[in-house]
Amino acid sequence: MSDQPPVASRESRAQVRTMLLIGAVASALGIALALWIDWFPVPASEQAGPIDTLWDVLLIASVPVFVLVETIVLYCAIKFRMKPGEELKDGPPIHGNTKLEIIWTAIPAILLVGLCTYAYVVLTDIEKAQANTMEVRVVGEQFTWTFYYPGEGDEEIASPQLWLPENTPVNFTVQSKDVIHDFWVPAFRMKIDAVPGIDTHIRVTTTSRRGEFPVVCAELCGLGHSTMRQSAHVVSREEFDAKLQELAEGPQGEDEGGGGGGETDGKTLFTDAAQPTACGSCHTLADADATGTTGPNLDEVVPDLSDAELKESIEDPDAQVTEGFQPGLMPRYGESLSEEQVDALVQYLKEVAGQ
Ligand code: CUA
Repeated sequence: MSDQPPVASRESRAQVRTMLLIGAVASALGIALALWIDWFPVPASEQAGPIDTLWDVLLIASVPVFVLVETIVLYCAIKFRMKPGEELKDGPPIHGNTKLEIIWTAIPAILLVGLCTYAYVVLTDIEKAQANTMEVRVVGEQFTWTFYYPGEGDEEIASPQLWLPENTPVNFTVQSKDVIHDFWVPAFRMKIDAVPGIDTHIRVTTTSRRGEFPVVCAELCGLGHSTMRQSAHVVSREEFDAKLQELAEGPQGEDEGGGGGGETDGKTLFTDAAQPTACGSCHTLADADATGTTGPNLDEVVPDLSDAELKESIEDPDAQVTEGFQPGLMPRYGESLSEEQVDALVQYLKEVAGQ
């Protein structure tokens, strides 16, 4: 049927060369752009270096593949599109090209095996057990993290924020009380699911970079998922020991006159995002400029509550759930706040709500 002459091989070679040239230029631009983008926050763990390098290598390997495929598709769509008058033509009779097919199967296979091997080596290497590893248990629940450190004997020391000494290998055992969460400190680059019923583990070695880094839940776990954010503080060994001591003594150490451990200012407890409470992220309260809608609007509900009812709503929110809201969303602050802190919140809310 074909009345078309076979495609001149010189012409087709020139076309292939043009495509490859466009592909090469686009790949170079793509790689430059990919490497120029600052993808990650400041690194704060020894694992971060190898992870960032792995990421760069994956970009360098995958950008040209993507660009090459797209270039060929676009080039062919434009160059070989049907022109007016060609409606009945079939195109040249080509029945595959064994050499090409071998090449485009072999190259991706080699690339994939190479990249998988490299990734496997990096990932096992950065999670090797090290001497003098500190153990931290991380427990996720809707919608907060609690961090537990080994204390005296069988006792554990609980903390609403993650405190870590610098230059220390840490083994995290991650657990969940309810649904699947995901423990993630972007600055450490390490991340793992918290799955009810099983223990998962990740290892992180802090560096000498001290500071405060966000702890994020990276698994959609319910309405308050986006509020499940706390802080990882990397501090000096002395500061860490002092902090642990302070946490071990608990919020009951009232006679120390509020030595920074438990915040006792109601408004700060309510508004400060660094507090484990940070009520403003879920509730609306005009005085605190808070506009959260996950929980009841406090300007509306608080004026109708007695002090005792309000206190119960903070300590054990599910005892009585406001109509139209789901139980199980708000943490039971009776377990983590001191009597003094709860009273401070009650007092603050009573003073300002509904004004
Ligand atoms: Cu916990 Cu999202």
